[in-house]
Amino acid sequence: MYILGIETSCDETAASVIRLDRRSSRVKVLSNVISSQIEIHKKYGGVIPEVAAREHVLNILPVIHESLAQAKVKPKDLGAIGVTKGPGLVTSLLTGMETVRTLAYTWRKPVWETNHIAGHIYANFIASGKDVRFPAVVLTVSGGHTILIRLSSGGKMKILGETRDDAAGEAFDKAAQMLGLGYPGGPLVSREAARHVAAGRPGRAIDLPRPMLNSPDFDFSFSGLKTALLYQIKADKGWRRRIPAYCSAFQQAVTDILIHKTIKAAKQYRAESVMLTGGVSANQQLRSELAAAVADHLPGTRFYVPEHQYTTDNAAMIAAATAFQVLYKHPATPWKKLRADSGLQLK
Ligand code: KG4
Ligand code: ZN
Repeated sequence: MYILGIETSCDETAASVIRLDRRSSRVKVLSNVISSQIEIHKKYGGVIPEVAAREHVLNILPVIHESLAQAKVKPKDLGAIGVTKGPGLVTSLLTGMETVRTLAYTWRKPVWETNHIAGHIYANFIASGKDVRFPAVVLTVSGGHTILIRLSSGGKMKILGETRDDAAGEAFDKAAQMLGLGYPGGPLVSREAARHVAAGRPGRAIDLPRPMLNSPDFDFSFSGLKTALLYQIKADKGWRRRIPAYCSAFQQAVTDILIHKTIKAAKQYRAESVMLTGGVSANQQLRSELAAAVADHLPGTRFYVPEHQYTTDNAAMIAAATAFQVLYKHPATPWKKLRADSGLQLK
């Protein structure tokens, strides 16, 4: 079955075609087209919703057309369409949803609405499909979310903990802004941090806190870490010469917090698999240190992280989440009932 996925929840207009082999539950990505607005939003240091919405309207049809063309799939061959329902910016979500409503009606195709966070989670099923063993503990870290979930067979999810203030990606973006690095901050902070490590970590060590590291729950908090960074920079006249050191200390603090809580949850819930996903899962240090922590503390537990191209927002992950809704026999949503929901909760 061919599935078209559509994602417009923030600043990427994305469409992807995948093929689902129902017998083996495996999916293969045939195209993954993303029109990024990063260059536009860079000027403002963040996403401007009205600008994002206008760009989505301009890009959505060419992006869908390109995704079908690259996959060499005709609309009549599609078995399903998947679209992001939320959470996200409502003005961005609407473009994807209204486009899909029209396609569902004119092409007469069934539509499955998908939670954006579930999309990030199913990015890990693109390569692994049926091999994942449950229960899995999944850490989703993006610009909008930091959330630990227990995923059981059949796609059942339970939220174990989430951030009480900033998301991990948001913290990276704000740290980058304080250090004058630009937007989006994650890749820039991690590039500077890598420089510091490659240079042998010169200079005095920078000490940053790890808020809520030992709290008895699975929640996170990053705003105190961000403020601690701000105060240290303010007190340091030569901070501009030490940007790589600050980035390295900041990245290490975020990584330590995320790994500590994930391993704790995986132990408590006897996870057979640990998964990392979301835009921040592009971070090389987080990927490798979590993989090592799983191997050290949870022998026998499998570790999954998406290929780099499926970490930040994309539509292949939405198509993959749709494939599993089809496999789990969730009902499709009639075109008249499709609704974007910017505050959509995970079920
Ligand atoms: O998943 P995503 O594309 O969008 C949301 O759903 O929010 O995540 C974007 C976030 C941004 O905050 C960005 O700074 C962060 O992911 N990010 C990274 C890296 N690449 C992207 N954070 C840390 N290290 C990276 N290499
Ligand atoms: Zn995302």
